[in-house]
Amino acid sequence: MPEIKQTPVANEPASNGAGSHSNDANQSTPKERPVAPSVAPRARYAHIVGWGRHVPEKVITNHDLAQIVDTSDEWIRSRTGIAERHVAADPKETSASLAVIAARRALEVADVPASKVDLIICATTTPEYAFPATACLIQDALGASNAGAFDLSAACSGFVYALAMARGQIMAGDAEYVLVIGTETLSRIVDWTDRETCILFGDGAGAVLVAASEVPGGILAVDLGSDGSGGNTLIVPAGGSAMSTSLETVSSGMHYLKMDGKAVFRFATRVMAASTRKVLERAGYTTDEVDLVVPHQANIRIIQNSVLNQLKIPAEKVFVNLEKYGNTSTASIPIALCEAIEAGKLKPGYKVVFVGFGAGLTWAACAIDWRTPVEKQAAGWWKNTRRQATYSAAAARSMWKRAVRWVYEVLPDPETPGREPSKETPEAPVKELAGERTKE
Ligand code: UT7
Repeated sequence: MPEIKQTPVANEPASNGAGSHSNDANQSTPKERPVAPSVAPRARYAHIVGWGRHVPEKVITNHDLAQIVDTSDEWIRSRTGIAERHVAADPKETSASLAVIAARRALEVADVPASKVDLIICATTTPEYAFPATACLIQDALGASNAGAFDLSAACSGFVYALAMARGQIMAGDAEYVLVIGTETLSRIVDWTDRETCILFGDGAGAVLVAASEVPGGILAVDLGSDGSGGNTLIVPAGGSAMSTSLETVSSGMHYLKMDGKAVFRFATRVMAASTRKVLERAGYTTDEVDLVVPHQANIRIIQNSVLNQLKIPAEKVFVNLEKYGNTSTASIPIALCEAIEAGKLKPGYKVVFVGFGAGLTWAACAIDWRTPVEKQAAGWWKNTRRQATYSAAAARSMWKRAVRWVYEVLPDPETPGREPSKETPEAPVKELAGERTKE
């Protein structure tokens, strides 16, 4: 893991009289009961120490879209700022497969093996399945055998929500390393005949590794919000318990994303500014002190109306890359973070804000005192080879575990004599993810 730059605070365990005395067995008289060591808790901070992104190869430009729906490059650019987006054209590219590549890159930057990760939080609006969680498929493919894993549903705000959860786990002392991922294949839920939505979205994944440290800084403050009364303004109506999938829901296109663009626009411009203000106040920063804002990349006009006009943060401090990717929902902030780092826009000591909004309706912001060095460290061939070997081992282990389960299925069950052994081989979809599909 890269060394986080800051003079560590003097937070050696404070020895109060009772603790230091009662801890010394030799000094106890027979009448004294030994008590638990009294040690002041060490300060814990949650720092982002690794980052990675991955987008599918296939690019769809505004001109391409103009061949499919009644739109134009001029309309899309002027109303949204978007010029093109990446889409998962290969059926083998899924939310999990994109995420695995982004996550591997984040672990590589941090120089931390997957086995050290305690928790994987995958924020996504396009999970592989209703269940199991996409995070579990990622866990398996990474070989993160010591990690808990769950998906987080807060739409485009999901990545910042997940960061807040990671920070909480770390500060509570329950985790040392948390992998936070935003990943989407929105092209699979977009109605390609609806010009009001299909022009906006793109596919991709971004990941960060959050690590515990005693060095002050990192994710200092978070603000999470929601307003469920606006749930119907951005929704996939069918496929859940409210409207289960049927011939009718499919033929009427209710399994596609539906949006009241104007309502979402108004909401977004209000909450982006308000949430940023709140999180800055909690972190003890003023807007003038902010060095970099990485906003949710939905529409350039939303960013202009909120961050630039309302907060008066100058454009050079606001990172925007939506021209190339469109709105990748949960992935937009981590992808933009990676590109901001590549562009030299982020340095240790910078005060950084992530702010997003999305379906729910939800919004979220966090303020970060960035301490991690951002120079690219060249990994030696040995490390690369070892890393690849651990991923191959993870795939083999996963296959082995599924084979063992299958053997249990086909063997006669001594507890239920006469039961027909299963003839199915149940492991197909997950097996593919752990092997072929995650190859870079
Ligand atoms: O992560 C959260 C995801 N959602 C968002 O961030 C969406 C937020 N909302 C928006 O970004 C904007 O509301 C849109 C980009 C979706 C729409 O922009 P707008 O400036 O609010 O346009 P509008 O809905 O007011 O539509 C203006 C006109 C309409 O025609 P009429 O009624 O004035 O004749 C639309 O039918 O533009 C028409 N229109 C289009 N024309 C060409 C709508 N979509 C298109 C299109 N191409 N793709």
